[in-house]
Amino acid sequence: MKVKKAVIPAAGLGTRMLPATKTVPKEMLPLVDKPVLQYIIEEAVDSGIEDILIVTNRAKTAMDDYFDYYPELEHRLWRSGKAEQARELRSVADMANFFYVRQRETKGLGHAIARARRFVGDEPFAVLLGDDIMMSETPVLRQLMDAAERYDCSCVGGQYVSDEAIGAYSSTKIVPLKGRVYEVLDINEKPSPEEKLSNFAVMGRYVLTPDIFDILDATPPGRNGEIQLTDGLASLCRQKRMVAVDYDARRYDTGNLRGFLEATVDFALRREDIGPWFRELIADRAGR
Ligand code: UTP
Repeated sequence: MKVKKAVIPAAGLGTRMLPATKTVPKEMLPLVDKPVLQYIIEEAVDSGIEDILIVTNRAKTAMDDYFDYYPELEHRLWRSGKAEQARELRSVADMANFFYVRQRETKGLGHAIARARRFVGDEPFAVLLGDDIMMSETPVLRQLMDAAERYDCSCVGGQYVSDEAIGAYSSTKIVPLKGRVYEVLDINEKPSPEEKLSNFAVMGRYVLTPDIFDILDATPPGRNGEIQLTDGLASLCRQKRMVAVDYDARRYDTGNLRGFLEATVDFALRREDIGPWFRELIADRAGR
């Protein structure tokens, strides 16, 4: 199995980050000085992905504008001696082949992924959620692609979370295979403590076979009246083999305020240029 295509569902309404997300897509909010979405695309490209489909909607045209050329701006930068910045802008647009499709109604993550059927065709493909950012040595998607290729099947990424947190995610029934890889026997969405299958939560990254499309088309609306990807994954893992990777990374959910602020602080601290200044600033403020 070789994975060359990725889908980024980014058509959610971002209600947890209002009021900013009334007009700015949450995927375009800046983490230090790059939009969230750019970090996700860099992870996909560093994992070997060439073609990227972004699932968008009528209010999110800033995303396709960002991954386009902007000749007037680049020209101005060249003329004012900022060639490096001009080159950098262009290299963002050249990172991958970008494609877009609109989700015309906000009917859930499963429904958003189903919009990718024609782009994906008959190949396995990756899914990266548009607001989940990872900090890791090996790109998280690469960790999943290695397992999917090795076991020749779908693969979901996740981590162990606390008893208190599991109710906010999908929980899985898993058995160990090798190292950080598990076989997935079942999945359920946002379980109550009684429904919990384990504390291993699926979060943010997937490698799926195209079997998922027929399954999603037949999946009725679930929680919140939305077509849930988790319901589709539960059917897929019963029909065909699926593995899970306990990915080695620090994960940030930038779709909620605390996750966004945590990511901002951690990414700023890691920067060579502003990191030392920022560390002092935080220490100074915390000392007050
Ligand atoms: P979230 O639930 O995290 O995103 O969906 P949201 O709906 O934008 O967030 P809130 O709860 O209103 O703040 C997970 C991912 O699925 C995408 C989102 O863009 C996000 O990347 N999504 C969700 C869609 O593309 N379409 C949908 O209909 C729902």
